[in-house]
Amino acid sequence: MAEADALVCLLLDRIDEALIARAPNLRVIANCAVGYDNVDLAAATRAGIAVTNTPDVLTDATAELTIALILAAARRLPEGEALVRSGSWPGWRLDQLIGQPIRGRTLGIVGMGRIGRGVAERAIGLGMAIAYASQRDLALPFPARRLGVDELFAEADVVSLHCPLTPETRHLVNEARLARMKPTAILVNTARGGCVDDGALAAALGEGRIFAAALDVFTAEPAIDPRLLAAPRLVLAPHLGSATTEARTQMAQLCADAVIAVLSGRRPANLVNKDVTLRG
Ligand code: GLV
Repeated sequence: MAEADALVCLLLDRIDEALIARAPNLRVIANCAVGYDNVDLAAATRAGIAVTNTPDVLTDATAELTIALILAAARRLPEGEALVRSGSWPGWRLDQLIGQPIRGRTLGIVGMGRIGRGVAERAIGLGMAIAYASQRDLALPFPARRLGVDELFAEADVVSLHCPLTPETRHLVNEARLARMKPTAILVNTARGGCVDDGALAAALGEGRIFAAALDVFTAEPAIDPRLLAAPRLVLAPHLGSATTEARTQMAQLCADAVIAVLSGRRPANLVNKDVTLRG
């Protein structure tokens, strides 16, 4: 960092004030992710460094993974696979691994941005109704009901998180909100692990207070809270939201484009700290 003019970093790289202070020549931090909670934006802005992210190109991939997780949790696919692989599957049973239907159920979206909308559009194709939590009505190209966050947890059959991790969304899913959920409800998190209180989720699953959950993101990746590993009805994925060749190639391209733009004296596309005065 002592010599670098540009940094391309990944979402597990913590780019904090101390690191930025050790980088006197740095002009751009190109974060290869749409989320940028790993970067100290204020410190970068103070230092005159552009911070960029990779929106849009991973929207489809993440929305598709979210649908996969909703269905996997609703129909208990990991439990089914474990049963088949165990060699102890007794054969078809009338009451074996009974799941939840999706058609006619309500999907509650927290964070109706690009990815939230992508998930909603796909879920409508599966026959789901859409609710979303927002401070204001959004102009959406599909029918959706706006609810308060607490109402959404009480009414939705599937709650899916698509919000950034900020001080306001940390532990947005806590004991009180989980207590509002229906016993048949499913929680899906493809946003950031810090949005969920791991202990509260593990307890809700352990006590059968919600039907299931699916997590693609975790509080301190790659560590997983042991209480979650011990919890039943939990589908786990290793942060695969954007993991398609198409998405990852375009994410890498956007990072390269951002570096080239800044080092050529241009303002980059996808600048996150728009108020920055760039270092010369
Ligand atoms: C992945 O989590 C991303 O923010 O791109």
